[in-house]
Amino acid sequence: MSTETIYHNPVLIETCDYLRFPHISTVVDATAGEGGHSVRLAQDMQPGSTLVLVDAVPERLEIARRRVSDYPVQCILITGNFRRLAELLKERGIEQVDGVLYDQGLSSADLVSDRGFSFQRDAPLDMRRDETASRSAADLLRELSQAELARIFRDLGDEKWAVPIARAIVRTRKLHPITRTSELKALVERVVPRHAWPPDVHVATRVMMALRYAVNDDINAIKESIRGIVPLLRPGARVVVLSYSSTEDRAVKVVLRELESPCTCPKKLPCVCGRKPLIRVLTRRGIRPTPEEVERNHRARSAVARVAERITNA
Ligand SMILES: C[S@@+](CC[C@H](N)C(=O)[O-])C[C@H]1O[C@@H](n2cnc3c(N)ncnc32)[C@H](O)[C@@H]1O
Repeated sequence: MSTETIYHNPVLIETCDYLRFPHISTVVDATAGEGGHSVRLAQDMQPGSTLVLVDAVPERLEIARRRVSDYPVQCILITGNFRRLAELLKERGIEQVDGVLYDQGLSSADLVSDRGFSFQRDAPLDMRRDETASRSAADLLRELSQAELARIFRDLGDEKWAVPIARAIVRTRKLHPITRTSELKALVERVVPRHAWPPDVHVATRVMMALRYAVNDDINAIKESIRGIVPLLRPGARVVVLSYSSTEDRAVKVVLRELESPCTCPKKLPCVCGRKPLIRVLTRRGIRPTPEEVERNHRARSAVARVAERITNA
């Protein structure tokens, strides 16, 4: 039997090149996971540089640390939610950084965990990534109104069948609570007519994704994190964000636009609000994986990366 460890296969690894600097630098992998991107970052950093590894799941950070230990960089591990990234760094005396990478979404370890992130494995509908999430997915399915559930599926999952699915959940929970991934999967399969099933993903994918975002407040977390970290970027420093759904990517685009064009004054009048651009977006259309990458790594199919650079506005 092979003893080779299979790690999460990193997506759009070449985006790490945006965080390659010819000088000693401090770079943050805000979603280090098992360190796929961290290894690539460490490979390209000047000796004596600092690589900060952040993740909500501490066991993964240990794996990431082991994998980058071959490179001459100082490694700092931070277990925590990236929503508070700027504070987490400042608490450790890090006031300025040269680069930050966010690789949102699920790792391969999440998919096989018993937290119920994926319907491919029957498990309790928990989905909490860390203790910052108070209510599990099963709690939300039990406690929220039909309208609230429908809003989650529509706004966070772009689910066209949001209302019928929410109605079926409310009807079902009167008979018994919905507590397992297999139950929710079967419910969505029953509600959405076969001809309306998406061709490329399972019919329950969007509902599961929306619930995960709701449980962990993921979309606000990424927005708050980017807003908080940009002031810590040195001029010329960069932030790279990988998204795996239109919901994630929309949030990233909104916050980057807000930081790039913060002035709220009418276009034809001189600026009186005094808000200056903090960043310049380097990837107008986003970076997408090649067909070869998607062929090799199915998880890459929905990925899009956006990169922004801190500018001086003195
Ligand atoms: C897609 S995986 C990252 C994989 C990693 N880039 C690699 O190549 O191995 C996403 C990771 O981010 C972590 N994560 C997601 N949201 C987070 C958050 N708000 N705060 C901290 N970690 C988070 C997850 O625990 C997971 O390990």
